[in-house]
Amino acid sequence: MKITNIGDKKQASFYVATELYKQMIHKKESKLGLATGGTMIEMYEALVSLLEKNQPDVSQVETFNLDEYIGLDAEHPASYHQYMNNILFDQYKGFDSAKCHLPNGVADNPEVEANRYEALLDEKGPMDLQILGIGQNGHIGFNEPGTAFDSVTHRVDLTDSTIEANSRYFDDKADVPKQAISMGLRSIMKAKRIILLAFGEHKKEAITQLASGNITTDVPATILHLHPNVEVYVDDAAMPD
Ligand code: PGA
Repeated sequence: MKITNIGDKKQASFYVATELYKQMIHKKESKLGLATGGTMIEMYEALVSLLEKNQPDVSQVETFNLDEYIGLDAEHPASYHQYMNNILFDQYKGFDSAKCHLPNGVADNPEVEANRYEALLDEKGPMDLQILGIGQNGHIGFNEPGTAFDSVTHRVDLTDSTIEANSRYFDDKADVPKQAISMGLRSIMKAKRIILLAFGEHKKEAITQLASGNITTDVPATILHLHPNVEVYVDDAAMPD
């Protein structure tokens, strides 16, 4: 694993957007593992600019998001369905919505939905490129500290730290869902190539733990040391001392 301080958020976002773009051009039926969150906003904006400028055919690209809140339907403004539509799928019109997948947060039975999503990943995968953010507690996807390294897509109880961090997207902290459906750590590790992005002082501790090389379920992102093809890009503020 290489941890690179690529300078600032703008440069890192452009770099990762370019890697996603190149992947889509290189292989028309690319499988992309996508992430949401504040970290990714500039990256998707840069990707949309590249797509608009070059107008590639992305109708065969298939995307798989990491997670969705339980209880939020696709129209809810804080759902990850809405996030993805607003930031990418409604911006560049070439994606086939039938090929853009997220777990269904309002499925009758979240366990059945998690199993369905994992089966879909198995059928369509592996991801050619998986993009990840990281939580302040070291989570990837919504795999909170203590999650088994062999976990597959599952129902997750969100930690207070995650609920607090994500409350900025809701009117009230009490509105933040307490559970989500997330790809598991084993699901994520199946990707051929993984890029993790982290920006800001508040991510420095998690990146410092990652950089230590210690592999522990207490910091779920440390599983990435067991993957052969992982790049981590950070800004000055998130770079360990
Ligand atoms: P953020 O979330 O990009 O909003 O900081 C990242 C994460 O929790 O994985």
